[in-house]
Amino acid sequence: MNIALVGYGKMGKAVESAAKAKGLTVSKVFDINNNTGSLGLTAESLKGVDVCIEFSTPGSVLENITAVAECGKNIVVGTTGWYDRLDHVKKIVKENKIGFLYAPNFSLGVNIFMQIVAHAAHMMDRYAEYDAAVMESHHRAKVDSPSGTALTIASNVLQGMKRKTEITSGTMQGQIKPNQLHVASSRFGSVTGTHAVVFDSDADSIELVHTAKNRSGFAVGAVVAAEWLKGKKGFYTMRDVITL
Ligand SMILES: NC(=O)c1ccc[n+]([C@@H]2O[C@H](COP(=O)([O-])OP(=O)(O)OC[C@H]3O[C@@H](n4cnc5c(N)ncnc54)[C@H](OP(=O)(O)O)[C@@H]3O)[C@@H](O)[C@H]2O)c1
Repeated sequence: MNIALVGYGKMGKAVESAAKAKGLTVSKVFDINNNTGSLGLTAESLKGVDVCIEFSTPGSVLENITAVAECGKNIVVGTTGWYDRLDHVKKIVKENKIGFLYAPNFSLGVNIFMQIVAHAAHMMDRYAEYDAAVMESHHRAKVDSPSGTALTIASNVLQGMKRKTEITSGTMQGQIKPNQLHVASSRFGSVTGTHAVVFDSDADSIELVHTAKNRSGFAVGAVVAAEWLKGKKGFYTMRDVITL
């Protein structure tokens, strides 16, 4: 399996380590020095590459996807901040008949956790005794709140629990309505990322918790996704990789 890295910042370097630890070959690295305007990504430079793994910037990701697709190569995209262009990217993938996979969070644990949550929410929907909530904690430098992962977890809860129809975040002012699902966020210290779903009744409480220890989980998940995508065509997410 032959991988090309597109973007060689914190994540690109972590992916390189994760790929090498699995005995995979990283044969090409494209960074800002050899890929301004995506001009480094050509049929010649990608010769022999099975899958590209892209962790660059929101400003360069679309150009990189287009260039890789036009070379007919498969690509795993970790860069965030372009999801308003999903339809455009789907078109590029179809036109160029490549394999494409993206995820806002590549962590295997988080993706497994999401499926457990979806399953649990579906079960709990039968028992009106149980209310639900989502809680997340992150380090004090995190800019966005709630985390994108918390919102995805919350939408998984909504899908399973039909009596919850609306996500609400921030501080609750007054009583919460039965159809609302509260997503609560705290910011402190150096917490890498903790996400919890709680199902609570008068009698007891069930808590599902995912705790990230570091960022290496994203890199391992991206490499697992690249192995899965090798030789495939079509548009995929981590939900296709991590199945029940
Ligand atoms: N999906 C997930 O699981 C996941 C997990 C973590 C992070 N992310 C996302 O992944 C992205 C990268 O994160 P990071 O922490 O690795 O950021 P980073 O350390 O800033 O790395 C981004 C790198 O891309 C380079 N770059 C800029 N233009 C490029 C181009 N045309 N071709 C190739 N490389 C180019 C940048 O170079 P210069 O600095 O010289 O411009 C920089 O080295 C972000 O969008 C982040 O939100 C996703």
